[in-house]
Amino acid sequence: MIEVKSVAETAEYRYARGWHCLGEAEAFRDGKLHTLNVFGSRLLGFVGKDNQIAVLDAYCPHMGADLSQGELVDGKVVCPFHHWAFDASGRCAEIPYCKRIPPKAKTRKWLTCEVNRLLFVWHNPEGLPPAEGVEIPYFPEIDSDEWDNDWHLDLMVIDTHPRELVDNLVDAQHFGPVHGAPTKYFRNTFQGHIGTQEFHGDSERLGGDLVAESAYYGPSTHFTRMRAEYDGLTVETILLNCHVPIGPRQFELRFGVLVKKIPGWTEEQNEKLALEYVENNRTSFYQDVDIWSTKRPVDNPVLAEGDGPIYQLREWYAQFYTNEADIPPQMAEHREFITVNKP
Ligand code: FES
Ligand SMILES: [Fe+2]
Repeated sequence: MIEVKSVAETAEYRYARGWHCLGEAEAFRDGKLHTLNVFGSRLLGFVGKDNQIAVLDAYCPHMGADLSQGELVDGKVVCPFHHWAFDASGRCAEIPYCKRIPPKAKTRKWLTCEVNRLLFVWHNPEGLPPAEGVEIPYFPEIDSDEWDNDWHLDLMVIDTHPRELVDNLVDAQHFGPVHGAPTKYFRNTFQGHIGTQEFHGDSERLGGDLVAESAYYGPSTHFTRMRAEYDGLTVETILLNCHVPIGPRQFELRFGVLVKKIPGWTEEQNEKLALEYVENNRTSFYQDVDIWSTKRPVDNPVLAEGDGPIYQLREWYAQFYTNEADIPPQMAEHREFITVNKP
């Protein structure tokens, strides 16, 4: 017999273990099927009968048609090829020409969660659920009246390995050249699935004294709390930077900003400030994107004093590509690095 392997079967590339953001949850609540090209394969997202968002493998177990090209009827996905219907659990619930449903007629359901109005999907090549404590933290600001509750999300596709993006967490010396915000204080910590950064700097664009505390929760979800002087005002924001791999050298990157309203201002004034501030943050972020989209990955960079713990970060990051039982202690133990500490 001739075997025709699918792309997913032939690709030996391993994707990181972790929660990966698929965008705003609300976007899935439109009664449509959503095609998701992630992890070197195709998934689909939709809202089932129970009003929950379901994420399933998109390739039909019958003969491999793309279920995301089908139709959503009464909470079930109807395959475009022979009209088998699948419910939100991934089970085939109906075959129009046959009463007996084969037990194997199901498509994989992925573990998901909704946090901060965002949808996340759990990816683990070992097939295990998240270990205790491996979760996306809730930011109450997303539901607070004192904050503009909109991420102002931007989506882009970057053609490189996501390690390039994650390196940025410890890159103390790019803030001056790339963002015009020279570093005054820079500290990183690593522990378990969390890698943090504390940054103090001067920024013309985002306002004088800039203090940013941020953390990666797993390999791909990065939140930053930022406080800056902007036009004589103290502006507080939460930045979201998250990605999901499309293929081994390509990922979808989402960038968003939540802005705290200025007390005493009108809705219009606050909205205007938020939009202006979001725009400025975007400009900053795209300065990084410009670099990533043209640089090449370097496995063994030549470092100088003051560069930040790039090798240690990569060691921490490698845990997400390692079977959990085989993670050596240094990948996940507590470590702390102060790279810049100017008076
Ligand atoms: S391939 Fe899906 S029903 Fe046949
Ligand atoms: Fe940057």
